[in-house]
Amino acid sequence: MSGLRFRQSPRQLARADFVAGFGRVYEHSPWIAERAFASKPVAGFASRAAVHAALVATVQSASAAEKLALLNAHPELAGKEAAAGTLTSESTREQAAAGLSAMTAEDVTQLRELNARYREKFGFPFIIAARNNTQGAIFGAIKSRLLNTRDMEFNNNLMQVGEIARLRLLDIITE
Ligand code: GUN
Repeated sequence: MSGLRFRQSPRQLARADFVAGFGRVYEHSPWIAERAFASKPVAGFASRAAVHAALVATVQSASAAEKLALLNAHPELAGKEAAAGTLTSESTREQAAAGLSAMTAEDVTQLRELNARYREKFGFPFIIAARNNTQGAIFGAIKSRLLNTRDMEFNNNLMQVGEIARLRLLDIITE
């Protein structure tokens, strides 16, 4: 599914196609595509940007508990799932793009410690759109974001999740 590209315009997508196509745009959270489809305009989604806007709006109008579950559906960067090979294909690609699958053992240990401190302080994992960042930028971001409040990080994480979704949509809708 990760390699799927729509030849059809998003305008013509039926519900099942929409959910099959975009259900993986949010990590382990197909409910977002399911719910977003209900907001489809009568004339259909006109563009990739319109699909993304509908998905982001669905997340924004979700409950705080649902947003927290969405954040918690994300794996840690260079975490246990990465080591065990149990990441989604999308996530594997994102972590590799940032060079995280080729780190030294010391860097892995340091990133895991930072991830653990972050999760302990805020109660959810550190999320950054890995594909937009180098390894150095990710280390810098987690260190500075550890100084923020929980509210700031809840919002920062949701913004990053929206960016991850935008990048995944670029892979699956050609315009
Ligand atoms: N956790 C932190 N960053 C990312 C990311 O870019 N992708 C995924 N799937 N999980 C993450």
